[in-house]
Amino acid sequence: MEELSRLAVLGAGHAGPVIARLAIRAGYPVAIATSGDPEDIALITELVIPGARPRWAADAVADADIVVLAIPLHRFLDLDPALLNGKIVVDAMNYWPASDGVLTAFEDDSGSANSRGSSEIVARRLAGSAVVKAPNHIGYHELEDRARPAGAPDRRAAGVAGDDPAAVTAIAGLVDRVGYDPVRLANLRAGRVLQPGGPVFGQVLTLPEFERAVHEEARSLR
Ligand SMILES: NC(=O)c1ccc[n+]([C@@H]2O[C@H](COP(=O)([O-])OP(=O)(O)OC[C@H]3O[C@@H](n4cnc5c(N)ncnc54)[C@H](OP(=O)(O)O)[C@@H]3O)[C@@H](O)[C@H]2O)c1
Repeated sequence: MEELSRLAVLGAGHAGPVIARLAIRAGYPVAIATSGDPEDIALITELVIPGARPRWAADAVADADIVVLAIPLHRFLDLDPALLNGKIVVDAMNYWPASDGVLTAFEDDSGSANSRGSSEIVARRLAGSAVVKAPNHIGYHELEDRARPAGAPDRRAAGVAGDDPAAVTAIAGLVDRVGYDPVRLANLRAGRVLQPGGPVFGQVLTLPEFERAVHEEARSLR
């Protein structure tokens, strides 16, 4: 049987547990961490994410092939980039000034929506990692409710964007296994279509709907 990548999910708020649950159901070994003591999330993990292993973030990351960042972007700025060196990093984060506060590094300085990609800024900070943007554009409730096996008639699509083709392939595989048709965008820059203000943010579309919505705009971002 194929051995699946080991996942470390950083963040045990809204998005992290859903991503962890979906990955466990798909057969991935999953560790989950907050910035604090894993003991603090041991009981809730057992109840809400059965099968996930609560760990210190550094230990979870050290043993993982894929690290999912499901933490608020303002907290990302406190994360030591060296911790993630050599890892495939899934950037599930969004820049949301209403809850993150205004973060100068992520501010759009042209005044137009989508003129700065938050994942490109994340990737620049994580120069030793292969950053892939996914599945930030789907709300956490829907992410779980809309997941379907391959071939299901009502299966939905999820965008995957990155500059490292092997990492994108790995994450497209993960997205497929957890229940979505992966749509590979040309690169991280093209992944701006997935962020707030973009054409699919907050949407859970079928593959043809998704492709129609993103491809024109993504082409112009290549
Ligand atoms: N909510 C959604 O529907 C959704 C969907 C897709 C993507 N997203 C994106 O996912 C990100 C997280 O959103 P959320 O709603 O899940 O946030 P949230 O409910 O506030 O949870 C954030 C979690 O991150 C943990 N955390 C913070 N800093 C950390 C660190 N350095 N290492 C490990 N864990 C850390 C927090 O725990 P401690 O404070 O105890 O460390 C907490 O468990 C945001 O950027 C959001 O835009 C959200």
